[in-house]
Amino acid sequence: IKNQSYFKILEKHSGNDALGRVMIEFSQPNTHKEFHVGHGRNVCLGESIVRIFKYNGFQVTPVNYIGDEGTHVAKCLWQVKNYAGDVSEATNKAEWYGDRYVEANNKLKEVAQTNTQLKKEYDREISKILADLEKKKGDNYALWKRTREDCMQSFYEIYEWLNVNFDHYFYESEVSAESKAIVEEFKTKGLFTESDGAYGIDMKKYKLGYFMAQKSDGNTLYITKDLALAKRKFEDHGIASSIYVVGDEQNFHFKQLFKCLELMGFDQAKACHHLSYGMVVRPDGKMSSRVGNSFTFLQLKNLVEQALSENLKKYDGVWSEQQIKETAYLLANGSIKYGMLANDPAKEIVFDPEAWVSFEGNTGPYLMYAYARAISILSKAKCENFNADLSNLDLLTLETERGLLRDIYNFNNVILNACKLYKPSLIANYLYELSKSFNRFYKVAPIIKIDSEKLRGARLALIEAFAATSRTGLYLLGITPPEKM
Ligand code: ARG
Repeated sequence: IKNQSYFKILEKHSGNDALGRVMIEFSQPNTHKEFHVGHGRNVCLGESIVRIFKYNGFQVTPVNYIGDEGTHVAKCLWQVKNYAGDVSEATNKAEWYGDRYVEANNKLKEVAQTNTQLKKEYDREISKILADLEKKKGDNYALWKRTREDCMQSFYEIYEWLNVNFDHYFYESEVSAESKAIVEEFKTKGLFTESDGAYGIDMKKYKLGYFMAQKSDGNTLYITKDLALAKRKFEDHGIASSIYVVGDEQNFHFKQLFKCLELMGFDQAKACHHLSYGMVVRPDGKMSSRVGNSFTFLQLKNLVEQALSENLKKYDGVWSEQQIKETAYLLANGSIKYGMLANDPAKEIVFDPEAWVSFEGNTGPYLMYAYARAISILSKAKCENFNADLSNLDLLTLETERGLLRDIYNFNNVILNACKLYKPSLIANYLYELSKSFNRFYKVAPIIKIDSEKLRGARLALIEAFAATSRTGLYLLGITPPEKM
């Protein structure tokens, strides 16, 4: 198994020792920008990895790292100030700011072509905002604080819907001062050397090009802040290892980062892992907020909820409104999470909400439905006072019964591999096969209507085992299936 050596490091540190803590950083959205479907994939993946690592005995600290400063923020604020409307008009505040950011970009691009004088003026205004934010006082700073809080509220709402929690939030704005101090420290120590006015490390001998820690204008970079962030993680949080769930466009960034941390003398650099994942694409190709064919996470959620509501119409008047609402929520949640996790993380996924809500094929609803069917048989049996019985499992001789038993037996192996390889998709695919096995068994093996009490007891035990396995597996994907549907 790949990554075995890294896993050994983790294993060594697992258990109750504070050193056994694995920090898993995920989500990391930027404020003042939209939270798109790709961010959704990240959260689903991160949350599942957290649960899988916990299940395998590691102490896990889930953390977030918010991109709340930089040019994108300044551009957004600049447009907010020029814009006639106000955020109070928005149904979703983060999306409203995201729209202002896009407008700012468009405006700048346009004047760059038509009016270079005006472009210079705009650039000056934006630089002024950036400078004010760095000073941490004045109107622009106050505006930043308020708008940043609005964006955070929108993120919290998404996390709540996804049922995801973080033990700690880091912010880019809180590590940037530290990152400057680190640059100075390692200039003095001779690790960062000058090159055309910039400072950094020549990493050519590692095939990693030039690592830039400080630009020639004296400013630090995104990667410099990552040095300060890692230092905090290692020193303040006493962690042994650190997983970063970040899209594959940053593969090179993390190679350079981990190498730099190693050269800075951090032992933990060896136990850092970039869990890289592919983009979410449309069936017709890439999404781009510029072209206007991108989807925010909330749009996806609405699409899925709408598609599923059709399916739940049959319960109108049969179930309570509360029950329908709760079931619709769990189904939508599970459909999205399963859609996001069923594919290998390294691969792109095709964004296809219609396929994700189907009750047939390799989908969340198919798995959840199999589970609900098992629960329904178990509750019927209970009404009749029929009990599961583990003492006669040798009566389970049908091929479908043996097959289901074999699948259940494989569960722990799959979970261990999913952890070693950082692949929730292994669990997803396992659960799909397991549910198919269950459905095959269910079709040919009656339970309530047979005479043999012993065989019925054995079959009920098998169904109980299936339900428990399926529930646990789904849990590890972040999914809570409805008990009834
Ligand atoms: N906010 C960043 C972005 O949107 C991702 C941060 C990833 N984490 C990190 N430690 N660099 O690109």
